Amino acid sequence: MAEWRGRDVISILDFTRDDLETLFEEADRMKRALREGRVRRVLEGKIVALAFFEPSTRTRLSFETAAKRLGAETIGFTSEEAISVAKGENLADTIRMLDGYADAIVLRHRFEGAALFAAEIAEHPVINGGDGRQHHPTQAMLDLYTIREAHGGVDGLTIGVLGDLRYGRAATSFILALTLYKPRRVYLISPPALEPRREVLMDVEERGLPAAKASLEDVIEELDVLYVTRIQKERFPDPEEYERVRGAYRVTPSTLRGAKRSLIILHPLPRVDEIDPRVDSTPHAWYFRQARNGVPIRMALLSLVLGA
Ligand code: NCD
Repeated sequence: MAEWRGRDVISILDFTRDDLETLFEEADRMKRALREGRVRRVLEGKIVALAFFEPSTRTRLSFETAAKRLGAETIGFTSEEAISVAKGENLADTIRMLDGYADAIVLRHRFEGAALFAAEIAEHPVINGGDGRQHHPTQAMLDLYTIREAHGGVDGLTIGVLGDLRYGRAATSFILALTLYKPRRVYLISPPALEPRREVLMDVEERGLPAAKASLEDVIEELDVLYVTRIQKERFPDPEEYERVRGAYRVTPSTLRGAKRSLIILHPLPRVDEIDPRVDSTPHAWYFRQARNGVPIRMALLSLVLGA
């Protein structure tokens, strides 16, 4: 098992099952401490930089909450317009500067590979908060953690991943994360234009994940987990391509007819129209609990990476 302290967090595939189990156990402790109001401020005196070049609600605010709960302070920005990038500064210079100010950098950027690039420049740990359509490892961590909470683990489960598997980094990281486990079956459910990219399918195949394309209708009764994602409108190279798939799928109470009672529905959020709000009041709706798990998971991650 690799040492957590000082580690960069770029892709979920940088981690082993054992690494993740260490993280989840730490998150369990954090969750208990939060509930009982006795969180130890183990990051007192640390500064975490939140460098968000792209919009974010949950990822940024849960990292900020996590850092502050543990006693750390945060610095950062939430758009390119707010910083010197608007004056022409390049990413490398921005990262060098943040590296000089903070003890860790959480980075979200529209370019694939931005976090890896930053990690090569920065001496302090870099945590990928999403790079283009590629990776979103901390989302995958909290997704797996939520499944572990609901079903006790991932092995043996039947899991459907529905939506934009082509441009969605949350869906991509989730599918890659599943290759670390032994689910019974993984169904990839998407309109043809939104199927996973070739490099992702190659990883899936090489790693022996029992994945197959399917339609939701055909598999709904088998599923233990349904992971739903939004169509990533902003990443389509061609707006017409988006218009063709827009509204292509929607989970409603009637879609869920025949589902197992224990089926959980996850969604990284934000949702647009892919889950009917009437689903929210069913026992299947786990997406808000999932979002809340972002705080204990990121507390655990920061405390492990910063060696508290
Ligand atoms: C996701 C993202 O930014 O990739 N959001 C998140 O971090 N929870 C998913 C999305 O934007 O659809």
